[in-house]
Amino acid sequence: SEIYLSGYGGTPPAFTTDLTRLESSAERVLESGPFSYVAGGAGAGATMRANREAFERWGLVPRILTGATERDLTTSVLGETLPAPVVLAPVGAQSIVHPGAEPATARAAAGLGLPMVLSTASSTSIEEVAAASGAGPRWFQLYWPNDPDVCGSILVRARAAGYTVLVVTLDTWSLGWRPCDLDNGYLPFLRGEGTAVPFTDPVFRSRLDATPEEDPATAVLRWISMITGTDRDWDAVPFLREHWEGPIVLKGVQHVDDALRAADAGVDGIVVSNHGGRQVDGAVAALEVLPTIASAVGDRLDVLFDSGIRTGADVVKALALGAKAVLVGRPYVYGLAHGGEDGVRHVLRCLLADLDLTLALCGHRSAADAGRNSLVRR
Ligand code: FNR
Repeated sequence: SEIYLSGYGGTPPAFTTDLTRLESSAERVLESGPFSYVAGGAGAGATMRANREAFERWGLVPRILTGATERDLTTSVLGETLPAPVVLAPVGAQSIVHPGAEPATARAAAGLGLPMVLSTASSTSIEEVAAASGAGPRWFQLYWPNDPDVCGSILVRARAAGYTVLVVTLDTWSLGWRPCDLDNGYLPFLRGEGTAVPFTDPVFRSRLDATPEEDPATAVLRWISMITGTDRDWDAVPFLREHWEGPIVLKGVQHVDDALRAADAGVDGIVVSNHGGRQVDGAVAALEVLPTIASAVGDRLDVLFDSGIRTGADVVKALALGAKAVLVGRPYVYGLAHGGEDGVRHVLRCLLADLDLTLALCGHRSAADAGRNSLVRR
């Protein structure tokens, strides 16, 4: 109602409430390298476009006279109670869009009680971001380093800093083919002729110090490969259990057979995601595979979803197709670019308000109310 009262009352917000238009306004506030890094996708961008188009293929069917004037958006997921089924997706290198970087995002998320998933590739240390989160929920994303000592050290620090849920990203053991970054000559952490090593882990740093000087681009690519690891098989999953006490979530699941393997492996959740179309160009839209995966494993683990969420209606559609909660990526990064912590807060509040209103006008009293019979395929 605050957003309504100020907007309709004649005081428009600092930047748009239409999260589908944020990208074009972010282009005006960011330099071309960082902008394209955030906005870009793999290859020709087919999967990134498919992610958005997939939402257009489903229509909400609003109900009447359901008494939905009061809503309860609280959601239980991975053993935690969230004020809404919305989570901030892990996004690395946030200092490229705003000097406030991850701590600014963490403060905005914590103020609304939403979990921010802190990326392994954060430009700020785990401990610093944890402090900025205050009493807010803390989830940690792992790029799974090859070196078990580096991995163990990162996990111990994340636990000690109060992170509860571990989100392990499995679709990025190499950066995808991203022509916009190649054409811009842009790689985060590469500054002119030098590099800025963002990864603060002491064990990781000791491995770096032990290796010879190289040209900056080679060095950045090597650190990235050291921190993101290489592909593994399912036999490696017990290592995670041995090193993490809380819930474990596998991110980047797109095939129903992998979802079934994840359930068999005993993990607590999965994120159905194609990394926002940044990895495999030509991959299926994440929303297209969500219903099959949710029907196959939704009763054995928590199914979360990301890739393409921009509006309240998108959230309702993902929930109706079986997701327990959604992660949102680029929109809040554009908010950070526009106005640091305030910008992230604005974007999140707009998404939550749009979600609340869409649920209400569809006749749902809660997020869990949005079921498959509230959608039609166009
Ligand atoms: C990402 N994503 C990502 N994922 C991850 O597990 N670790 C990371 O460090 C990053 N870094 C990252 C940087 C940038 C600039 C973007 C845009 C994305 C992927 C992210 O978590 C999420 O899967 C997608 O962003 C979801 O798609 P939307 O919401 O951006 O369409």
